[in-house]
Amino acid sequence: MSVAKKDIKKVTTHILQGMKNRGEKIAMLTAYDYSMARIFDAAGIDIILVGDSASNVMAGHETTLPITLDQMIYHAQSVIRAIDRCFVVVDLPFGTYQGDSKMALKSAIRIMKESGAHSVKLEGGAEVKDSIKRILSAGIPVMGHLGLTPQSIYKFGTYTVRAKEEEEAAKLLQDAKMLQNLGCFGIVLEKIPAKLGKQVSELIDIPTIGIGAGPDCDGQVLVSHDLLGITKDFHPRFLRRYLELFDAIKGAVEHYISDVKAVDFPSDKEQY
Ligand code: KIV
Repeated sequence: MSVAKKDIKKVTTHILQGMKNRGEKIAMLTAYDYSMARIFDAAGIDIILVGDSASNVMAGHETTLPITLDQMIYHAQSVIRAIDRCFVVVDLPFGTYQGDSKMALKSAIRIMKESGAHSVKLEGGAEVKDSIKRILSAGIPVMGHLGLTPQSIYKFGTYTVRAKEEEEAAKLLQDAKMLQNLGCFGIVLEKIPAKLGKQVSELIDIPTIGIGAGPDCDGQVLVSHDLLGITKDFHPRFLRRYLELFDAIKGAVEHYISDVKAVDFPSDKEQY
């Protein structure tokens, strides 16, 4: 029997909080288009992140900086059309929320109104406090992002592990507490020592979602193109590849090309 959309128990911030409270891990993955989001939702993913990593894996940029708000909205619209159950978080792209909380609210409202997404994510701690406050004041759920924050890559200079030193770790702990106190519903922790991931997850009551932040976070997130092996030359220690799709797709396309060249495709059964 098929289940009507309205009968499906949708994932909400309330449900995510309940998962943390019960010790049930949260599974999150990035998606940027309808077809992939449809598969992930059917598989039972809890959260889809329409990440600004779209700038890398969809558009081929070296960093996440070039992607625009319009482009993020386009990706988010495609994902929202696909899902029945999961919670959808959309990244506010670089330059749309830093330093001007009114602009931040405008950007977040555009995402919510034009895509139908459920929440936004933005990178940083104390530096973006005013933006987070203003977005939250409009009733828009906000997810924080601490540790390695790729929009600041030119400040960091490298994509290496963050907060290994005591001072940076202390600031991260302080920022995490602040994000919770402001009213964020969750925080992504990217590429920090596992010990610090555990410390943050125990310190705060809202869910932490790790990517290279150890097993004690309340959930995990990966860029789907990495998990599926569509990207090939990216081998961080935290990544587990569940498929080698680059090779599988390349093999299928090579097979197709050779069938076309050999006039083996289309066959008698594949024509009208
Ligand atoms: O944009 C993205 O994919 C992200 C994840 C790495 C958490 O922010």
